[in-house]
Amino acid sequence: MPRRRAIPGRSCPPHYGYSPAVFTRPVDLRTRSLFIVGGLYGNPFALETVLALARRENATLVFNGDFNWFDADSVEFQTINETVLKHAALRGNVETEIAGEDEGAGCGCGYPEWVGDAEVERSNRILERLRETARGFLGLRARLHDLPMHLVAQVGGLRIGIAHGDAESLAGWQFSQETLREHPERAQASLAGAGIDVFACTHTCLPVMQDFATPRGRVLIVNNGAAGMPNFRNTHFGLATRIASRPSTDALYGTRLGEMVVEAVPVRYDQEAWLARFDRVWPADSPANLSYRKRIACGPAYDIEQALRIGAPTGALTRAA
Ligand SMILES: [Fe+2]
Repeated sequence: MPRRRAIPGRSCPPHYGYSPAVFTRPVDLRTRSLFIVGGLYGNPFALETVLALARRENATLVFNGDFNWFDADSVEFQTINETVLKHAALRGNVETEIAGEDEGAGCGCGYPEWVGDAEVERSNRILERLRETARGFLGLRARLHDLPMHLVAQVGGLRIGIAHGDAESLAGWQFSQETLREHPERAQASLAGAGIDVFACTHTCLPVMQDFATPRGRVLIVNNGAAGMPNFRNTHFGLATRIASRPSTDALYGTRLGEMVVEAVPVRYDQEAWLARFDRVWPADSPANLSYRKRIACGPAYDIEQALRIGAPTGALTRAA
């Protein structure tokens, strides 16, 4: 059978894939308090905020990919990457694609059918501009190329699987709020062989926290959406995932799992400064402005109530907003 021609931005290169069994390995890091920051998207003000959040409670930071996107300015690109790479980090599709020269993958987002062609085409153009910036930083490019695709952390008694996309692909959409709602059985199947209590992911741009009953017990998938962009209607903050023994007073929502809490914590960056910076790098009619400015200014058409999907009776729910 002839192979279907891959469309840049629509499909994932084969090297993006891995087996859920990779998460059964011994842990890569142990900590008492963990912030997982996905989708910073080159927002330097959100980066300042997450650094301060982690410092306040001496927590470990893991950046799980796509910390680059809007940082096409060379100085910004250098600062963001040098700062993030002082911490544990995974590569997302953005880092993977700007570290190489594979134009056939486009942005590497693996966009599903509900994302329109015009948006996919603009994403490919954003990636091309960012790659041009990255070409000026050979050392950083090599470091991005060498980042892992997944990580296993232990916080208290919990094994945390951290990825950019899902349990099978760097840019997978199985842990998107859309697929978790329409086809939860797909995520359920990939959880079975992973030996993980919490999967923390990002990539799909909207947050969700959903639990599953498995032979291992209650397993949680927590997608933080974006740390560097608003995630809910009429809001101006990003989100990070926090896992610790004590609840945070800042948490928007969360749940208890064993002795630990897993929470969505707002990343309250300087909105005015971020919009001004974004407009300078991506003026009107640029691909990023057309695709993202409205969301950065007003948030997406998505509400907190849609993100929180905790059904298991043992899940002591916390809601602060
Ligand atoms: Fe991504």
